[in-house]
Amino acid sequence: MSGNTIQAIRGMNDILPEQAPLWEYFEDTVRDWLRSYGYRNIRMPIVEHTGLFRRAIGEVTDIVEKEMYTFIDELNGESLTLRPEGTASCVRAALQHNLLYNGPQRLYYNGQMFRHERPQKGRYRQFHQVGVESLGYPGPDMDAEHIVMCADLWKRLGLADIALQINTLGSPEARALHRTRLIHYFEQHLDALDEDARRRLHSNPLRILDSKNPALAPVIDQAPKLLDDLDEAALLHFERLQGILRAAGVEYEINQRLVRGLDYYNFTVFEWVTTRLGAQGTVCAGGRYDGLVQQLGGKGAPACGFAMGVERLLALLQEGGFAPALRGADVYVVHQGEQADLFAWQVAQRLREVGLHAILHCGGGGFKAQMKKADASGARFALIIGDDEAEAGEVSVKPLRELEEQVRLPLQQAIDLIRQPA
Ligand code: HAM
Repeated sequence: MSGNTIQAIRGMNDILPEQAPLWEYFEDTVRDWLRSYGYRNIRMPIVEHTGLFRRAIGEVTDIVEKEMYTFIDELNGESLTLRPEGTASCVRAALQHNLLYNGPQRLYYNGQMFRHERPQKGRYRQFHQVGVESLGYPGPDMDAEHIVMCADLWKRLGLADIALQINTLGSPEARALHRTRLIHYFEQHLDALDEDARRRLHSNPLRILDSKNPALAPVIDQAPKLLDDLDEAALLHFERLQGILRAAGVEYEINQRLVRGLDYYNFTVFEWVTTRLGAQGTVCAGGRYDGLVQQLGGKGAPACGFAMGVERLLALLQEGGFAPALRGADVYVVHQGEQADLFAWQVAQRLREVGLHAILHCGGGGFKAQMKKADASGARFALIIGDDEAEAGEVSVKPLRELEEQVRLPLQQAIDLIRQPA
């Protein structure tokens, strides 16, 4: 490698042609799955006004405090941010284009997200999410739909060992009450807190419960439980959700410590977790965010959603030994001679018109060298065209992976032969 070769940015990965079939298999499966539940695709810009994420995700969150790629647009001085997640943009787009005017919306998106985290296995600075957002649905039936459809996707992908954790965060009022009780409790145990927890004590005490510092475990263990402060409506919503999950046969565990790292959630939150990927085991996460639409300037509308980490799910697929079937082209067209070269173009185009996958040899060279390329391409047949064939409007068909003789045929008969299943 020469000294001045430019490398990709740390934590931002190229997806090479060898890896692409796995991505395409995943994307195809996911698209069919989402359509089968009636979700429609929405595509938002990758860059948004910084204020959108500050307002939606919350000022005192890891994402907004230290993980956003924020920069000033030098042309007009605006502060812009590479999206760290999709929910804020999706709600913004729905509001901007009045989508809710036409009733509730089931939406999905798929694309890159950016977070300035410390890169490690399963954690990147550019990563991909498939996100689902249902806007305008108040009931636990929609929370349940999201969870049940995830369970269905794991089945379609042949993934086992993904466990579901659920919790409810209650109404904003119940959380406010709980917050006051937590602050009071932690104030009495200041000595047991680390610097991060002390900083959050008055701004976001719920996040202290999520601390990964083992030294805090005893004081967190004894902290007031959110469940004790929850309102009737939240408990009823949570009960109903569990009823549907039980009826659907989806196993779950209630994790009262599950609070999520984004501020917009209320009521249901959930995470799908695997132990097979090391530290970064959460492959999919989400919940209800009934206040966000109004918070972003819309007329209030209930909503919920989730997003999965594509890299993590692909790692899980690979860890299980899955490799998508590779399919080479049907035909590699070799050609030599002035008339043959021109005829070969027409032949390749005709093959594609009838739905075959055809690679036309480019770059010249003799028949022998071209046949080597045809062999290496993985194609099932070589079509050989010399001036002789071109003159007669015929082609020679040579099977590359079956022990059959080369035959010379008029083009249409050659197509019929190639279309026969292997
Ligand atoms: P989140 O929990 O921040 O939620 O991210 C969802 C998923 O994205 C994670 O469970 C994980 O699989 C993946 N993920 C997050 N950060 C990284 C990273 N640095 N590298 C690789 N994968 C990562 C949200 O983003 C919410 N918008 C989900 C949601 C949608 N809630 C309601 N609607």
